[in-house]
Amino acid sequence: MFSKESPIGVFDSGIGGLSVLKQFIRFLPSESYIYLGDTARVPYGNKSSRIVEQYTAESIEFLLSKGVKIIITACNTVSAVALETARKYAGNIDVIGMIEAAAGAALRASRNNKIGIIGTRATISSNAYENRIRDISSQSQIDVFSKACPMFVPIVEEGMLRHPASKLIAEEYLLPLKENNIDTIVLGCTHYPLLSHLISEIIPEAALIDSGEHAAVFALRMLAEKGLLIDPSDEFIQKPDIQFFVTDLPANFYEQARNFLGFEINEPNIIHLGKEHS
Ligand code: DGL
Repeated sequence: MFSKESPIGVFDSGIGGLSVLKQFIRFLPSESYIYLGDTARVPYGNKSSRIVEQYTAESIEFLLSKGVKIIITACNTVSAVALETARKYAGNIDVIGMIEAAAGAALRASRNNKIGIIGTRATISSNAYENRIRDISSQSQIDVFSKACPMFVPIVEEGMLRHPASKLIAEEYLLPLKENNIDTIVLGCTHYPLLSHLISEIIPEAALIDSGEHAAVFALRMLAEKGLLIDPSDEFIQKPDIQFFVTDLPANFYEQARNFLGFEINEPNIIHLGKEHS
């Protein structure tokens, strides 16, 4: 059983989900968090739905064992291809993905109804963002342009945020969106908020939608409605209470974690998920 004091579970394929956790801490600073990054099996973005669903099921089971009150699938790839699996395994615990709130925010932000979606190959080929936007849009004339940007994840992980080669790659991906006159871009991947400066240099006219930010606001409202929100005025917490769990500790883990989260993280616990790792 869970209560208002139970932690929020945040799950990602690796450490990119710390960009989402950062937004949750911004909007829900008094909550405690369990962060699970499947660092041994990242990236998910080039894997098949079947494998992403299997990894998701294992991660949900782990978070449930920690007594979380809600689960956030911070990974856009998981949100796009395995949200139903996550919800099936989570039972009576709500699961919030990255797509729903960001799709609504993109529709509100766009003035010309031309929206760009960027994400991993798996996210883009699922059409999850596009389908969601069309489902909730009252406009019949809405143009959605999607583009997989598979090199963006390694660019961020290699810390090449301002490298000239990164600019060239970003132009290659983004110029087709620009030619279609889009005025709003959904950053449909945990890593892309770190490339906002580059994206805005290439398409300065586009509003950027950070899926983590909108998911955090969505979660805040949902927890408040259900009486499960710890009000920041209830207690004054100086440092967010976060427990980190990873399936591997890569060489540059701490440096990367700092880049995504903006502050140093405590030593993570290393766990095993699934049969092949036990
Ligand atoms: N977390 C993934 C996402 O948001 C990016 C990294 C990966 O491919 O696993 O889609």
